Amino acid sequence: MGMLLLEHFPLLAGWNIRIEGTDICAEVVEKSQAGCYHRIEMNRGLPARFIVRYFDHLGENWTVKPEVRKMCNFRQANLCSSPLPFNRTDDRFDVIFLRNVMLYFSQETRRPLLAGIHKVLAPDGILFLGSSEQPADPSIWTPVLAGGTCHFRPRQPN
Ligand SMILES: C[S@@+](CC[C@H](N)C(=O)[O-])C[C@H]1O[C@@H](n2cnc3c(N)ncnc32)[C@H](O)[C@@H]1O
Repeated sequence: MGMLLLEHFPLLAGWNIRIEGTDICAEVVEKSQAGCYHRIEMNRGLPARFIVRYFDHLGENWTVKPEVRKMCNFRQANLCSSPLPFNRTDDRFDVIFLRNVMLYFSQETRRPLLAGIHKVLAPDGILFLGSSEQPADPSIWTPVLAGGTCHFRPRQPN
């Protein structure tokens, strides 16, 4: 996400952009914090110009450059916990990617999770789910088809 923002939205260079990444798994969080990937991991579809521009190369490893890394904060969090482990009531997220994780959860867990996501997302924010995923409660989300994909806008209570 950081690379895409730097690449396609250069006018945001002076903005205080925060990308928050969470996972329940400590190993996943440590890997993200290190931002260091083996050559084989780098060969999974990242365009070559992104590799050259946004990574430092040492031997067989590639490390995300500080200009990208400094935009990101990674921490361990359980999305099934209540309340949701994000405290953003005054300063909500503009975009949330909740992709390919709800498939592990029951319908009873998905419903409060998506209600919590609705609360921490800005009123004009955007939610992305995995391509086979749907919001548990469609009454609070509006699907929007754009660019060959579908995202969701929060519906505000009347
Ligand atoms: C299939 S991966 C998807 C990763 C990424 N969102 C993507 O689309 O490529 C699912 C991730 O969800 C994490 N996960 C599973 N249960 C979770 C929970 N209760 N809270 C937070 N993360 C969880 C797993 O550790 C795993 O890294």
